Amino acid sequence: SQVQDVHADKVKAAKNMAFVFDIDGVLVHGDRLIPQARRALEMLNGDNQLGLKIPHIFLTNGSGKPEKARTEQLARILQNPVSTDQFIQSHTPMRALAEYYNTVLVVGGEGYRCREVAEEYGFKDIVVPNDILAWESTIAPYRVFTEEERASSLPRDFARVNIDAILVFSDSRDYATDMQIIIDLLRSKINNGRLGTVARDPVSQRIPIYFSQGDLLCPTEHPIPRMSQGAFRIGLEAMYKALTGVELERVVYGKPELATYKYADEVIASWMEMLHGEERVPQNMYMIGDNPASDIVGGNMYGWNTCLVRTGVFQGGANDEENPASFGVFDNVWDAVAAACRKEL
Ligand code: G3P
Ligand code: MG
Repeated sequence: SQVQDVHADKVKAAKNMAFVFDIDGVLVHGDRLIPQARRALEMLNGDNQLGLKIPHIFLTNGSGKPEKARTEQLARILQNPVSTDQFIQSHTPMRALAEYYNTVLVVGGEGYRCREVAEEYGFKDIVVPNDILAWESTIAPYRVFTEEERASSLPRDFARVNIDAILVFSDSRDYATDMQIIIDLLRSKINNGRLGTVARDPVSQRIPIYFSQGDLLCPTEHPIPRMSQGAFRIGLEAMYKALTGVELERVVYGKPELATYKYADEVIASWMEMLHGEERVPQNMYMIGDNPASDIVGGNMYGWNTCLVRTGVFQGGANDEENPASFGVFDNVWDAVAAACRKEL
């Protein structure tokens, strides 16, 4: 019958679309739920006319916690299931670097949580700035290093340790200390990031540095967006250039970098297999983001439909002038999801 045909067409269309959600500024502000997010996710999790799950993944430039801990926290805030199999943080693709470097300096994040992340990714020998301070606290002259921090750090004789790469996983909690240690390592000699040395030719001996994302600003619980890892990186680049006369070469992950979107495709395909038994990327992809300079420009370049919401970094009028969203601008995530479903189903 016609009714059955219409239903079959809608099911087919539902299996040929998927959503990619940004988190901060779209679904939450810090620990606070953006109310329309709950309804949007409930609908995609099967509370819809078709009774069908519509695939969606989370692609965040957020960082600083192991994937399992972060998805559990988000599921509580969003009151919807969030699986690690549908979840990408800025440093998730950096897992692949564990194969290439033995000893790494991991920078950023709260306490020692980024050490945990790196351990989970399979990095063999992990150093965090506090380990270095516990060895030689004069390295950061203005830092007050507490006894508690000393007790939980893992000092060793870093004058004998070669650090092979620097990985900035998350926002620095102490720009002055972290920048000092990173600059020391970038300028060190013996080809391998040995603290306490300064290379005459800093470029040919420099160890590589990776950043998990490049956002300048991040929406938080504070009314005006706060500086994020991109601002930290630009500061470091300027210092390095001023001190050595040369540009700092570096690698940046996260949105809008191409590698991150390619990684997202793999995650979408395997999530599709989980939901619908077909390992493929649906034709109609919808990215919902609040930051034109990362979510929207990246999605546009990758050929996704992009939806810009007004609940985060973007606070402007009709559309962003530099990186306009291709599918449109919406007041909130529910409006964007509903519009996409109206178009496709
Ligand atoms: O800019 C830092 C980060 O918290 C942004 O996260 O979810 O908006 O990509 P998200
Ligand atoms: Mg965001």
